Amino acid sequence: MASGLPDGLRYLPEHFGRSAQETLLEAIRAVVAEAPLFVPRMPKTGKPMSVRMTNCGPLGWVTDKEGGYRYQATHPGTGRLWPAIPTALLALWNDVADPGLAPEACLVNFYEPAAKMGLHQDRDEQAFDAPVVSVSLGDQCLFRVGGTARTDPTRSFRLSSGDVVVLGGKSRLAFHGVDRIYAGTSTLLKNGGRINLTLRRVNP
Ligand code: SIN
Ligand code: FE2
Repeated sequence: MASGLPDGLRYLPEHFGRSAQETLLEAIRAVVAEAPLFVPRMPKTGKPMSVRMTNCGPLGWVTDKEGGYRYQATHPGTGRLWPAIPTALLALWNDVADPGLAPEACLVNFYEPAAKMGLHQDRDEQAFDAPVVSVSLGDQCLFRVGGTARTDPTRSFRLSSGDVVVLGGKSRLAFHGVDRIYAGTSTLLKNGGRINLTLRRVNP
């Protein structure tokens, strides 16, 4: 991609090779089997988002019409605790974030070819010292990232399966989103689509 990434953003293309991606995918399938994907709904309007999601870790990010954006320890459908974060993701966190402060939440987003994610900041956490660490699996997407104001200029680049993006430092609160999925650009997921995993620290 073009040089001149925003300060604090680290882009690690193909950090996970194919066999590591397959191992990670198996672990995520096990997470989804225990904590099924659900349709998140926007606060107040109840409008469904186009991704389906689930979580692993002590806390998970959820949203619905009544309660809005929040972290909670249990799955909104089953009422059960979220499954553990796969070890490969804990190892990634130790490599690129603060090993002394374990991630508390791993959001799993599943994108069908028509799904996207509007420009937003990750700011439902209680502290912003730790980075947001994101892993892409499956089809490529067009990722957009800007500054800490919604009106700041943005730049867009493609994320591919195995890529890792770290939003830390001055980019921790950078606006970001996914404009589109490029169907058929990866063979990792049998039925296509894209999975994004985001690791976060929630408490100080
Ligand atoms: C997110 O911001 O929650 C997801 C970003 C992505 O899918 O790459
Ligand atoms: Fe985000």
